[in-house]
Amino acid sequence: MCGIVGYVGKHQAAPILLEGLAKLEYRGYDSAGIAVRNGNGETEIVKAKGRLSQLADKTDKGRAVPGTCGIGHTRWATHGEPSENNAHPHCSDDMNVVGVHNGIIENFKELKAKLLRHDYKFYSDTDTEVAIKLIDYYYKKYQGTPVDAINHALVRIRGTYALAVMFKEYPGEVYVARKDSPMILGISDEGTFVGSDVPAILKYTRKVYYIGNLQLGRLTGDSLTFYNLDGDEIELEAKEISWDAESTDKCGYEHYMMKEIHEQPKAVSETLNLYLNDGKIDFSGLAANGREDAETSEEKLDGILKKLERIYIVACGSAYHAGIVGKNVIEQLTDIPVEVDLASEFRYCEPKIAKNSMVIFISQSGETADTLAALRMVNEEDIPTLAIVNVYASNIAREADYVMYTQAGPEIAVATTKAYSAQLITLYLFAIKCAELRGLMADERRTELIEAIKAIPAGIEKILDDKERLQWFASKYSNAQDAFFIGRGLDHAIGLEGSLKMKEISYVHSEAYAAGELKHGTISLIEQGTLVIGIMTQQGLYEKTLSNMEEVRSRGAYLFGLTSYGNYAVEDTVDFAVYVPKTEECFSASLAIIPLQLIGYYLAVAKGLDVDKPRNLAKSVTVE
Ligand code: G6P
Repeated sequence: MCGIVGYVGKHQAAPILLEGLAKLEYRGYDSAGIAVRNGNGETEIVKAKGRLSQLADKTDKGRAVPGTCGIGHTRWATHGEPSENNAHPHCSDDMNVVGVHNGIIENFKELKAKLLRHDYKFYSDTDTEVAIKLIDYYYKKYQGTPVDAINHALVRIRGTYALAVMFKEYPGEVYVARKDSPMILGISDEGTFVGSDVPAILKYTRKVYYIGNLQLGRLTGDSLTFYNLDGDEIELEAKEISWDAESTDKCGYEHYMMKEIHEQPKAVSETLNLYLNDGKIDFSGLAANGREDAETSEEKLDGILKKLERIYIVACGSAYHAGIVGKNVIEQLTDIPVEVDLASEFRYCEPKIAKNSMVIFISQSGETADTLAALRMVNEEDIPTLAIVNVYASNIAREADYVMYTQAGPEIAVATTKAYSAQLITLYLFAIKCAELRGLMADERRTELIEAIKAIPAGIEKILDDKERLQWFASKYSNAQDAFFIGRGLDHAIGLEGSLKMKEISYVHSEAYAAGELKHGTISLIEQGTLVIGIMTQQGLYEKTLSNMEEVRSRGAYLFGLTSYGNYAVEDTVDFAVYVPKTEECFSASLAIIPLQLIGYYLAVAKGLDVDKPRNLAKSVTVE
């Protein structure tokens, strides 16, 4: 949560900072601020509560804040309410140190008490102000370099941080440090850049450095230098980002979410292609992607998958829902039982992980605090871990033994769509690979399943071609108060994600129920006109769910039926039928989720809501 940017170079910093922050707004959007150093060595800080547009207006799109060196921040409040006072950047009283921070300083009260004893005064409720003043304190106490001062402070700080700091006596320089919060640095002929994520700087450079935990960096107009906690210079390797700049633009779509919904065919096929080699599933890259100190190899992974007695899938939000689909698919295609856990529960429930198990962590961002903590907990035991992650070199990717990257590209809308779809593909491939290695799947069956996955992008396109019907439905139902999603088995897993999409962006109260559970309580909520969305892609369960639909119809519900082409008799029961192309039943989530994403999207649009930035949410949740 929170996004940070920084720039030093030939150009005016403020417009570049605002542009970078706009790409990071998905990380937090309750207030924003920039600090720019002008030619006279003075630093000007401008902050605004609310969306970034407020800050842009206040600074005349950055033109009113001259200078070629600066830092910026977009905030999702953790310590202290959203207000201009609590917004970053924060500074020491004499403006000696000015900085922005993403993360949480856990011992900020103790550090604040120490600083109060040294006559520091505090103007905000934030932990960040404490961190900045602590750096100032050590800078003055030891009279060393900025790197020394930051290192002294970091030794005292417990928690997570990505910090970007400017020092009065070092004009034209920005200092950065990171622990557990993401940060990348970039360089081009135009200057040097820092951001929480690639999109913030992609317009200016593709040459980036992934700074490691407990490492520091120094940005000047034409150089990047890296340091360890001892203050010694270290070498980092530059990486070339393959994404093009358009991948972080809306490209003519009104919202990122709609653009990303349309990018799903590409996300699916690129993820599939990454793990296909000559028609076979190739997992040779998984070991190489994992943490550096892990003793992993493709052979070792094959051995683990052959012997697996149990799989645990741990994730949050939509990634957890992808995990539930994964459980269904793995259990259908293999003989391995799968348990799916919410990371926030798993980490505190003292899980008894069976021997010969593997724990799979799913995360778009690769930085969700609970998922990361659960991974670290499992890593302390001798249990192999696999991460399914979208963001390259993110914490979860760096710390798991094996990594499967999804190829969804940058996802900006807070409500995930294409990353979820790409996660499903990795889980399908994982299930097929396990089945093959365990001698449970003949070559012909594998080929059939892979062909079915290859057909998913065309199926998604077909659904998208007919999206106007869903738009019509959403505008008709835009004043719905409640919605219930019902389905059985895999259809219930699809309902969970469909329901989340609806409630998170359209604020319609929605719940997903296993269809058979409805009469154990929830049915009492059904009134005349209540919207019930029945998902029926599993032929063996179709009749069962349909009869649950009948039960709620007789109590006045308005029925939306989602099923596969061919099940046209559904129209005898439901008021509004939506069909998705037929696929292998175990892969039906990849198609059935598309109309549900569209319904959520169109409902939010019909209600005039901010689709890409729903209230109170942030895309990457780096706090517990
Ligand atoms: C937030 C996002 C969700 C996401 C969840 C887990 O709540 O809004 O879209 O599913 O975090 O995030 P992760 O990055 O771990 O997939």
